[in-house]
Amino acid sequence: MNKKVDPEKYGKVAVLYGGNSAERDISLQSGQAVLQALKQEGVNAEGIDCRAEFLLKLAGFDRAFIALHGRGGEDGTLQGALEILGIPYTGSGVLASALAMDKVLCKHLWEGFGLPTPKILVVKEHSQLSTLEEVDTFPIMVKPAREGSSVGMSKVDAANGLREAVELALQYDAALVEQYIQGEEYTVAIMADKVLPPIRLETPRDFYDYEAKYLSQETEYKCPCGLNDNDETELKELAYEAYKSVGASGWGRVDVMRDSEGQFYLLEVNTVPGMTSHSLVPMAAKQSGVSFNQLVMEILESSYS
Ligand SMILES: Nc1ncnc2c1ncn2[C@@H]1O[C@H](COP(=O)(O)OP(=O)(O)OP(=O)(O)O)[C@@H](O)[C@H]1O
Ligand SMILES: [Mg+2]
Repeated sequence: MNKKVDPEKYGKVAVLYGGNSAERDISLQSGQAVLQALKQEGVNAEGIDCRAEFLLKLAGFDRAFIALHGRGGEDGTLQGALEILGIPYTGSGVLASALAMDKVLCKHLWEGFGLPTPKILVVKEHSQLSTLEEVDTFPIMVKPAREGSSVGMSKVDAANGLREAVELALQYDAALVEQYIQGEEYTVAIMADKVLPPIRLETPRDFYDYEAKYLSQETEYKCPCGLNDNDETELKELAYEAYKSVGASGWGRVDVMRDSEGQFYLLEVNTVPGMTSHSLVPMAAKQSGVSFNQLVMEILESSYS
């Protein structure tokens, strides 16, 4: 899959990580893992923690590997700055990054395309809290519009917990009150326009929250995911359509729920998914015979498109 290339062709590569988002810690881990892989592959790479004035440090770099998660790195703003600086970068462009980061806009887009996604009510600010009276079906999910790593999210089981959950999400951004899908959870990685084997996630916790993602030993990952061939094909096609619909490119990961009747529902597209050694995209790559280092090189190659 990965032809041996001359690592010098990439020039001097800046691995952008850290930053100021709520996902800073994960990004530090992703960035270090990517940096190590690039160096092992002979690429002239250097890490840059993207805090104050980091753009000034980019002088002299030939391209950037974006390993920042969340706002300020995954949301199109950094991509725009790099466009203006004339520095090629990995992954999706400005518009796709911004659209994928904003769960409200992304879901409206999917509804427009007729792609299945759980219904939402949006609470933009505290003055709109009274609209919560319309909510009469529980459980329900509450999440901020533009975060990741399950930050600021809650599963709410009854009306008396709703306001508190929405106020928590509002600390980060507009809040989505989203139809809860009871069922199985899958994630589908895409690398260089190739859909990798889906992973099924199982946690004894209420949902795949921060603890389940990064701390718990009880989370189970199944790859192959256990779906029959037809269902797996349907899932892969849906994930690819969702990815393409926002204009994503290079690489990404689509999160999907499946209800007890077998209906899939799109949750979100991640345009800079986790890249720690135990993250999901590397796991899916491994299942299709692609090593972590090969994956990193394949993603770096996306800076040419
Ligand atoms: N509508 C829903 N129904 C059931 N479970 C849900 C729903 N929305 C989210 N979840 C659960 O919450 C988790 C996190 O949701 P989501 O992917 O929307 O958030 P995120 O913070 O952007 O995640 P990521 O770390 O992938 O960027 C999901 O993986 C799933 O377990
Ligand atoms: Mg997710």
